[in-house]
Amino acid sequence: MKKFLVINGPNLNMLGLREPDIYGFETLDEIIKYTNNKIQQVDASADWYQSNIEGEIVTRIQESLNQDYAAIIINPGAYSHTSIAIFDALSIIKIPVIEVHLSNTHSREEFRLRKLTARAAQSIMEGLGRDCYYLAIYSQLLKNEEI
Ligand code: DQA
Repeated sequence: MKKFLVINGPNLNMLGLREPDIYGFETLDEIIKYTNNKIQQVDASADWYQSNIEGEIVTRIQESLNQDYAAIIINPGAYSHTSIAIFDALSIIKIPVIEVHLSNTHSREEFRLRKLTARAAQSIMEGLGRDCYYLAIYSQLLKNEEI
């Protein structure tokens, strides 16, 4: 069974309450359940991690080096636009990194267009809402012809 690490950055713990017109009414826990159900069907699993703190996200990325993940799926939230530290941590990672965003950041404010962390990612997927997490995982399994 392939295992994935899914990291969510700041304010993603507030999904459900947070700007529902942009992010919908589902909580992060509901999205986790939804995604886990989708990926179980293709014999994959995920460890989920959320933090509002930049350094904790850096540490979790570093820890993944000694863990047997097939890929890292990361939604760095607003740190996507600012964090050289998360970019540097992701640059150390040898396995694929897929950056995801629930919203289409291209249809939003100008400051969301610059993504520092995405420079260390193999691919970016955005604007697909809750589906972005499981689709990112499926994309890795498809790549290896496992589904
Ligand atoms: C986000 C987009 C970011 O610009 C924003 O700061 C977030 C959420 C998304 O999933 O659409 O926190 O990463």
